[in-house]
Amino acid sequence: MVRVNMTTPLLMFVLLALPCYSAPGQLNRYGLPVSAHSRDFYVRSPRDHLCDSGKFDILGFTCCEGVLRQGAGQSCCGNKSFNLTQASCCGGQLTLHVSQLVSDCCGSRAYDPLNQLCCDLQILIRTQPHSKCCGKELYNEDHQLCCGTVLQGRKVLTKMSGHHRCCGDHQFDQQSHCCCHINEPSNQVNPKPLNASCCAIQEVPHPPPAQTGQHMGIAQNSPNCMPGKKPCGLGACFNPTTERCCVNPTSLQGQSYSHDHTPGHYHSASCGSQVYNPDINICCSEKLSNRVLGKNLCCGTTPYGLEDRGVLCCNQTLHLAVEDGYQCSPGGHLYRPSRDMVCGSRVLVIDPGKHCCGEETYDPQYDICCNGHKHHRLKNVSCCGGKAYDPSSGQMKCCAGTLYNLQVQDKLSEEAQCCGSVLMEAGSTQTCCSAPGLDLLYPTQPGFTCCGHRYPNASLWSCCAGVLHPRPEPHNTTKNVIPGPRLLPLEDLKTEVLCYNEVLLGTVESVSVKMNKRSIVMVNAMYVMVNAMYMLASRANVSALPSPHYVTLPDHCSSPELVPGNTYIWVKIPSSDHISFISDLSDNSSPLYSIFSRCRTLFLARSKALHNV
Ligand SMILES: *[C@@H]1O[C@H](CO)[C@@H](O)[C@H](O)[C@H]1NC(C)=O
Ligand SMILES: *[C@@H]1O[C@H](CO)[C@@H](O)[C@H](O)[C@H]1NC(C)=O
Ligand SMILES: *[C@@H]1O[C@H](CO)[C@@H](O)[C@H](O)[C@H]1NC(C)=O
Ligand SMILES: *[C@@H]1O[C@H](CO)[C@@H](O)[C@H](O)[C@H]1NC(C)=O
Ligand SMILES: *[C@@H]1O[C@H](CO)[C@@H](O)[C@H](O)[C@H]1NC(C)=O
Ligand SMILES: *[C@@H]1O[C@H](CO)[C@@H](O)[C@H](O)[C@H]1NC(C)=O
Ligand SMILES: *[C@@H]1O[C@H](CO)[C@@H](O)[C@H](O)[C@H]1NC(C)=O
Ligand SMILES: *[C@@H]1O[C@H](CO)[C@@H](O)[C@H](O)[C@H]1NC(C)=O
Repeated sequence: MVRVNMTTPLLMFVLLALPCYSAPGQLNRYGLPVSAHSRDFYVRSPRDHLCDSGKFDILGFTCCEGVLRQGAGQSCCGNKSFNLTQASCCGGQLTLHVSQLVSDCCGSRAYDPLNQLCCDLQILIRTQPHSKCCGKELYNEDHQLCCGTVLQGRKVLTKMSGHHRCCGDHQFDQQSHCCCHINEPSNQVNPKPLNASCCAIQEVPHPPPAQTGQHMGIAQNSPNCMPGKKPCGLGACFNPTTERCCVNPTSLQGQSYSHDHTPGHYHSASCGSQVYNPDINICCSEKLSNRVLGKNLCCGTTPYGLEDRGVLCCNQTLHLAVEDGYQCSPGGHLYRPSRDMVCGSRVLVIDPGKHCCGEETYDPQYDICCNGHKHHRLKNVSCCGGKAYDPSSGQMKCCAGTLYNLQVQDKLSEEAQCCGSVLMEAGSTQTCCSAPGLDLLYPTQPGFTCCGHRYPNASLWSCCAGVLHPRPEPHNTTKNVIPGPRLLPLEDLKTEVLCYNEVLLGTVESVSVKMNKRSIVMVNAMYVMVNAMYMLASRANVSALPSPHYVTLPDHCSSPELVPGNTYIWVKIPSSDHISFISDLSDNSSPLYSIFSRCRTLFLARSKALHNV
């Protein structure tokens, strides 16, 4: 373990240079607050592709303590692998169905600190938002005291008044009594009236905090410098008015160099840990070369000039004697745009009409490219992650890029629901709580409701637009809950809902709150009139709305979080006269097609049924 000590910039540099965690943004791209504990489990990028000294495929496996586990980029818990969104790791033990992102550890078990407490290694149900532990029990600071000591045992007392405090395992009124040590050796305490002699010696409640090592850490890490000098890296000092300081980025050793005495003009500069004269030398990526007029740019460690003939710098590599017509591709390859195309890391000869799909080319007339994977273009085929499937068949379900075969799972497509990229169990055993960019599954519990990606006990916590607030009093959740619009994946919106109601499509520009209402300004908005007559004739009536278009949601608190810049579908149910369903379309490549093809299938089936009657 590296002790995190952010007090010195030098140490921070060391920490930054450690192997990086895989970008947490991939899991949590909107920077939601997640359990700090989870950071320990972000997957470290492997330095070598070795697992127990054997090479392994990081695209298919994860190496946990020398044991190879299925699945790329999983987190490790001891030698087991797990997914941070589906389990937690505490003391090397896995707890399933509690995401590490929202959990804390109680010994070797994970718990949800919103709804539970860990007291003396026992998980207790939280009865108040601010419940605290008293030994193995819970107590509420507002009307209870936790008295006694860890050694003699803690006990919960009901506060006799707001002025009562603990004295040993009793309570006393601090307006009339003080707490006195009566028997020094056994350290016994007892409440005494304020005029008692022992009350005169006012006890200092807490000794002033001792000088902590942290402050001294700075002094130890940087040398003690003479007055007027400042530390320069490790083990050196410099005088800022007459000298410059260069710190070697690897050893952190500092070295001081005297300035040229021309005021305001330095004829020396540092290149790595070397000092050089910029009139004579040029420094490229810490390498010194002789200065040649006109060569004022760096390509890796080599200097070059823009007007040099036949020279191109792609991806910090200098190409010499390059013929006319060559360019650097955005990925850093040398190619001729008139004859070559660059697909991934390959430079290929242009094949007219072909496009790139990963490392190869494809013809969009006959093929479809899903996330860099080429498939034959069959009728009605769409992409789901890297795979192609036919959404109209109703046999497959695509959950945020992961394809599920419903027949294997014995599920009906209208019932199958996604939680992010996970296909939920049928029935109501699971609840999916979503915040922008993070969907977490929880075992359903009565009296609990989602608040963003959290799943709190609603009698303890209230929720406003994804933000939790403790309730002062336990709350009867069975009454007056106005359900706000639900944020669902488009695929999970019931076809009936989509095709028989007013559908608005628009990109959120900004959001604000007005008298408990959510007010939304959207651009690029349009009404989509889906009706049987049009659909059967394979037409649709779309009416564009002038920008900006403005909508309000009746209750700000019960409405889901919306991300400006994202495009949503808004379904208004005429009977309730407000928007009841919202779906984020940011990841959907052709939302209108999805809606129309689903409605057309529905209307076709309806009209067939009518004719058959
Ligand atoms: C973990 O599960 C989530 C869905 O719950 C998925 O989106 C993510 O890709 C998984 N991560 C890994 C590393 O498998
Ligand atoms: C994984 O670790 C556990 C406990 O440390 C050990 O008992 C088990 O044998 C290990 N499994 C493998 C495959 O090494
Ligand atoms: C929810 O909170 C209430 C009120 O404190 C409590 O009585 C109940 O046991 C909690 N439910 C669960 C399942 O934790
Ligand atoms: C303290 O005050 C009480 C009355 O307030 C009195 O009865 C008692 O004798 C006093 N004790 C001392 C030690 O002065
Ligand atoms: C660009 O340079 C980096 C670092 O040297 C290398 O990893 C990468 O493969 C190069 N890219 C191309 C397209 O050559
Ligand atoms: C909560 O409210 C419901 C409906 O108003 C009522 O039937 C129930 O008794 C209440 N529960 C409590 C604990 O007050
Ligand atoms: C299309 O919808 C608009 C808005 O509701 C309506 O005014 C218009 O008549 C419809 N167009 C046709 C051809 O029905
Ligand atoms: C394509 O989808 C339409 C309706 O969306 C359906 O009528 C047609 O049979 C499908 N074609 C194939 C080849 O599955």
